[in-house]
Amino acid sequence: MKFLTRPLLRPGQSTTIRKVMADNIATMTHSSPGAGMAMPPGFDIKSAQCFRPKPSERHCRLPAKDINVQNGTMPPGYKAQVAQLDTFELPARVTGSLGDRALGKALVDAWRRHGIIQIAMSRTQKALWNSAKAESQRFFRRPHHEKAACVDSESYAGYIASGEEVTDGIADYSEIFTITKDLDPSDPRVRARWPCHGPCPWPDTRMKDVMTRYNNSLGNDGEKLLGLIELGLGVSPGSLTRYTQDGWHHTRVLRFPPRNATNGKGKEGRGIGSHTDYGLLVIAAQDDVGGLFIRRPSQKEQFANWKKSAAGLLEDDEGWVYVPPVDGTHTVILGDMMQYLTNNYLMATPHKVGLNTRERFSYAYFHEPAFQAVMKPIEEMCGRDHQQEGSKEEESDEGIHYGTHFTNMFIRNYPDRITTARLLAEDRYRLLATEELRTMGRLPAS
Ligand SMILES: [Fe+2]
Repeated sequence: MKFLTRPLLRPGQSTTIRKVMADNIATMTHSSPGAGMAMPPGFDIKSAQCFRPKPSERHCRLPAKDINVQNGTMPPGYKAQVAQLDTFELPARVTGSLGDRALGKALVDAWRRHGIIQIAMSRTQKALWNSAKAESQRFFRRPHHEKAACVDSESYAGYIASGEEVTDGIADYSEIFTITKDLDPSDPRVRARWPCHGPCPWPDTRMKDVMTRYNNSLGNDGEKLLGLIELGLGVSPGSLTRYTQDGWHHTRVLRFPPRNATNGKGKEGRGIGSHTDYGLLVIAAQDDVGGLFIRRPSQKEQFANWKKSAAGLLEDDEGWVYVPPVDGTHTVILGDMMQYLTNNYLMATPHKVGLNTRERFSYAYFHEPAFQAVMKPIEEMCGRDHQQEGSKEEESDEGIHYGTHFTNMFIRNYPDRITTARLLAEDRYRLLATEELRTMGRLPAS
């Protein structure tokens, strides 16, 4: 095992914020147990450095006693660098103060450098995560027929069995409960047969209550983060948050089997193949088992998942970074729409999941634009000298309709699901092109 560390703090540094250069990376192998606008083909239609920050220096730092990095947890069979990420603490409100601007800049810098950040859970969130994890375990331990009954033919919410999801043509071993906007059948959007709109088939109200409260809390963090990113980028207020009114936020509650106890449908040791996620932010919690790998932004690796699928991207190549569990923190990575809106300044984070020696539970909340949002790159971000020369998006006139992007991704990932069959059979996909579905806040004419 070889640790490549460098001094993180420069005492006496005169900048407003002493940056923690959070790329302490250790290279190691496993040594102990411990995610286009076109219709998809085939369809017709840190051991953290801690110091006492001034009150205005709100980015970081958990007291050392609260840091509990689960080292030595990398899944067997993988070779990767191990991230030691800085942990940021979000303010109660984002007001645009100098401290907020500095924090926003620090967050943007961290994503551009590492592709991922950690934020500290509040005390309430710790309790909510523990409750959500317990509910997740209670759900996944139900008999298969009970879980399999939790599906809906209109929304993509509900149960996804291990081996049902496909990434780059290979079955994933993840077992999932997906939560999308829980709409009553009487909702006008459901009655108008809008794609992906429908109820969430909860197994019981206890799971619904706990996870709804947790998601609402994560949603608050999502909005704060977007406001901070706007400040960090120096773009107009609302450049990102204008799209998240009635955002199409959703969640994937995940269980991964131990690598020696799979159903054989996928690839040995692979939990989820490499991919990028669809929207703006992914705020995630994981238990102490470990399995997440990400790639840092690189000038050599160019991709745009909304144009050409990034599924399977560099999956077996070198250059992956393992993200060990850190108790009391959420990780935050970026999605396709953040990359698009910022004109490649903030890149979507490629990630994948490996299976470990024990079963693993994680929880990924996706903070998204509204289903009806039609987005274009932020003007102030166009023409800037970005890392991805030659891949600028200024020439895009039509913009991206988030609902179409989301629907394409789910059709692609769940080609055999009842929801996909109904969506296609009822020609719902056609509605995505209508004015009604491309105007934020508009409801169907009754
Ligand atoms: Fe993902």
